[in-house]
Amino acid sequence: MNKESNEFQYSPALESTSIVKIAERYGHFINGKFTSSRSGKTFATINPATEEILAKVAVGSKVDIDLAVKAASGAYKKVWSKLPAKERGKYLYRIARLMQERAREFAIIESLDNGKPIRETRDVDIPLAISHFFYHAGWADKLDYAGLGIAPRAHGVAGQIIPWNFPLLMLAWKIAPALAAGNTVVLKPAETTPLSALLFAEICQEADLPPGVVNIVTGDGKTGAEIIAHRGIDKVAFTGSTEVGKAIALSLATTGKPLSLELGGKGANIVFDDAPLDQAVEGIINGIFFNQGHVCCAGSRLLIQENIYNEFLEKLKNRMGKIRVGNPLDKNTDLGAINSKAQLQKIQTLTRAGAAEGAISWQPESSLPKKGFWYPPTIFTDVTMAHRIAREEIFGPVLSILTFRTAQEAIEKANNTPFGLSAGIWSEKGSRILWVAKELKAGVIWSNTFNKFDPASPFGGYKESGWGREGGRHGLASYLLRNEASAKSPSRKLVR
Ligand code: NAI
Ligand code: MG
Repeated sequence: MNKESNEFQYSPALESTSIVKIAERYGHFINGKFTSSRSGKTFATINPATEEILAKVAVGSKVDIDLAVKAASGAYKKVWSKLPAKERGKYLYRIARLMQERAREFAIIESLDNGKPIRETRDVDIPLAISHFFYHAGWADKLDYAGLGIAPRAHGVAGQIIPWNFPLLMLAWKIAPALAAGNTVVLKPAETTPLSALLFAEICQEADLPPGVVNIVTGDGKTGAEIIAHRGIDKVAFTGSTEVGKAIALSLATTGKPLSLELGGKGANIVFDDAPLDQAVEGIINGIFFNQGHVCCAGSRLLIQENIYNEFLEKLKNRMGKIRVGNPLDKNTDLGAINSKAQLQKIQTLTRAGAAEGAISWQPESSLPKKGFWYPPTIFTDVTMAHRIAREEIFGPVLSILTFRTAQEAIEKANNTPFGLSAGIWSEKGSRILWVAKELKAGVIWSNTFNKFDPASPFGGYKESGWGREGGRHGLASYLLRNEASAKSPSRKLVR
């Protein structure tokens, strides 16, 4: 809260955690049951806003993964691939409805385990995750009409690795299309945020989903690497850092396993001088401070047309002064905790590099909680394209500001990055928006808005932001084998 302002203060509006039951220990979810790790090893997941331990979670070893893959493979062959497609759809609808019933529980658990504001988990993460299940439920019995050939086949068992920034939402992006297309899955949530995936496992039980169709194995990168390398995995989907994505692509290069990668970004938000400035300020704020900036498609570079630079910067600073940082469970909070100590250190390293390289940082006055991991909303001006903070993904509430004179210059700067995930264009002129969008090398481009998501809309990047799309018909396609031959000689894998 900006102490300078004479505006009213918000009284705390804390969300109660009384409806959430977090167990002391969690095992993996394999073949429809919670089972402890064969190695007996566990790790702690904490609340990054308080550093308190929430639960101990099993570390997935080779033996656990083997069991999970066997369960998924057995369920695929014996049950899931034999079910009429509309029955698969019914399960997905049932899962979606059960998630709706327990939405508040999910919102609280996600906020506790991740550090993100309850306002966001309640209004964005959880409803969007649910809508992915509803959307894909509708596809299950319409695969023949998806333009992917007659009777497209499922791959079999999908191995899915997700990050910590949108834990339940990324689970939904992975599991919903995989099941709709007729695959079974082994999914690993991130090590700092496993709890919503484990609550989802309970939903699978409540929905009477056949055992083995969804398996959840917890653990860190080592567990993830073992899942991907397992010979029983027929398709791999990964969301996370570009570095790990590249390593996975290399490791699978000779196996022929289909792979989709959704990696990092360094999105440019371009503001032209004819843009509706107040609306643009809101979009820029949302683009970089939503979810503490832990967003692959964040608008982490702001390109402002030079003739409106001073006016726009003042409006932006003014708006930043009203961002409320603090307890994620307070419904007034805009900016919650940084997800982990490691992520906080990464943000600090990069912002220190920004200052050392000559960029100028500015932060509104704010008081940060003593415990936990926090970083205030920050902007850097006097940034050049050569600076690390203009090139590398910070994945935090830090915005690098550059200027441009012509649309051509804006496009060159926006495209001057190894990434190609997202971009934003702010202008009142439709023809300019369309032309700039055509020139930008980004998978998702918003105009006069930012960070809008819909399960029907494909999402994904170019270059080092990965390959493949998630969501919509395109996302579904990555969980299906287009095989014309299957139409002539139906095989065991045929999905109808
Ligand atoms: P990460 O890529 O290491 O972790 C993402 C997921 O992959 C986690 O579930 C992790 O356990 C798993 N994983 C790690 N190594 C693996 C391997 N060799 N094989 C299979 N799975 C593996 O990301 P991390 O370390 O959490 O964050 C580092 C940086 O990555 C962040 O600072 C951010 O810049 C970027 N990042 C980007 C994300 C995005 O959506 N674009 C999401 C998460 C991180
Ligand atoms: Mg945690």
